[in-house]
Amino acid sequence: MLGVVVMIFLAGPAAQAFHPSVYSPRVPPEQLERIQEIESPFETTPERIEEGRKVYFGKGLCVTCHSKKGNGVRMPGHAPRDFTDAKWQDTRTDGELMWVLKTGSPGTGMPQRVGKVLTEEEGWNVIQFIRTFRAQ
Ligand code: HEC
Repeated sequence: MLGVVVMIFLAGPAAQAFHPSVYSPRVPPEQLERIQEIESPFETTPERIEEGRKVYFGKGLCVTCHSKKGNGVRMPGHAPRDFTDAKWQDTRTDGELMWVLKTGSPGTGMPQRVGKVLTEEEGWNVIQFIRTFRAQ
């Protein structure tokens, strides 16, 4: 019994160490190139950003983890992404962000959103909105 408890305890930190850096891709290597090339079918417009803002603060529940300012709330385990980080914003393509919304980020608290609580169009809108958090 003690052995099982110790193993569970050891598995925790190992699971969290899955991603060495916030900049390393979340998409598995064999899919990365294909996913990176996927573009939003929607042009960026003030109306879509506004729709994305509603999703972020509303039914997407993004604000509960990513915070009003987009820099993330403190929580145990993997920290939510800081959307103000310009280097992170420049590292990820929209296709990668959509992958995370559809899949969640395995081994972290980031839940699946598109296909569960959001439609694909709502997902593209909220991606337009989180791009606005980028610090200059
Ligand atoms: C329960 C908490 C929680 C909720 C709700 C949540 N997130 Fe996250 N999110 C996280 C965590 C934790 C991470 C960090 C995951 C990682 O490092 O891989 C993250 C990471 C991300 C990333 C970065 C992934 C990457 O490739 O670097 C994006 C984009 C994102 N979330 C968007 C959203 C959006 C949009 C919503 C709402 C529709 C949302 N999240 C809701 C916790 C949450």
